[in-house]
Amino acid sequence: MSAPAARSASTARGGDTGGGAVRGGGAGTAAALAVEGLVVGYAGAPVVDGLTLEVAPGSVVALLGANGAGKTTVLRTLSGLLTPRGGRVLLDGDDLAAVRVEDRVRRGLVQVPEGRSVVTELTVEENLQLGALWRSAGRAARRTAVDEMYDLFEPLARRRASAGHQLSGGERQMLALARALISRPRVLLLDEPSLGLAPRVVAQLFAVLRERADATGLTVLLAEQNVTSALSIADRGVVLALGEVVADAGAADLAADPALRHAYLGF
Ligand SMILES: Nc1ncnc2c1ncn2[C@@H]1O[C@H](COP(=O)(O)OP(=O)(O)OP(=O)(O)O)[C@@H](O)[C@H]1O
Ligand SMILES: [Mg+2]
Repeated sequence: MSAPAARSASTARGGDTGGGAVRGGGAGTAAALAVEGLVVGYAGAPVVDGLTLEVAPGSVVALLGANGAGKTTVLRTLSGLLTPRGGRVLLDGDDLAAVRVEDRVRRGLVQVPEGRSVVTELTVEENLQLGALWRSAGRAARRTAVDEMYDLFEPLARRRASAGHQLSGGERQMLALARALISRPRVLLLDEPSLGLAPRVVAQLFAVLRERADATGLTVLLAEQNVTSALSIADRGVVLALGEVVADAGAADLAADPALRHAYLGF
């Protein structure tokens, strides 16, 4: 067991960790997920140039930044879909450079893709059963795992016999998240899950993320433009601008910092 590590605030303007950050650790405490000096891009100049960040076990970190800041690029690199030109990605201290996408998933690093990918021809129940196959446990264990998802997402329980294409946007996002959670990831990456959803649904989804982090030690990296909602459940926020970290601090401090909000977060 590793003690949960909290990064102390390291924004240019100082400040302490807030937002219910788990404290402890310090030097030598392993991050669940760490990025060191990451350089990645497409053709031409790098989009992300020298990104360093750490996500402590069981914590929720919001990866914030305007359109084009590089959030998706970072998540795709962590998943293994993009190959960095420099720097390292570490899962529980292990360098992932040589680890393929599917093996990262097997190790518990799972991305909920943007756009709520669910199998639209299958029912909610069938989508969840498919997700549970990853766990390779017996049928009874898979049943328990699916029911656990219905407990977490009550709207899905009511829609279990509905096909994916019949679901609302919020229900689809819940199903996409449930499908990811059912495989028992240790580190979950989410790319703008709130996009286009009603505030009430966003609150429901984010509450589940917070609850899983607290109850099961799930580690979450949440890329969002919905800064207020993301910071309301995050322990820490990391703000990207033009591929660089311009702030890394406790969620409450970030939310309360008007200069930072105006400069980078647009509210
Ligand atoms: N496939 C690609 N080929 C070339 N350039 C790309 C590609 N995808 C993204 N970019 C560029 O990389 C930069 C970062 O994009 P990215 O999608 O990572 O930002 P983002 O923070 O996720 O933005 P958004 O909030 O709009 O999703 C942008 O300048 C974008 O135009
Ligand atoms: Mg994006």
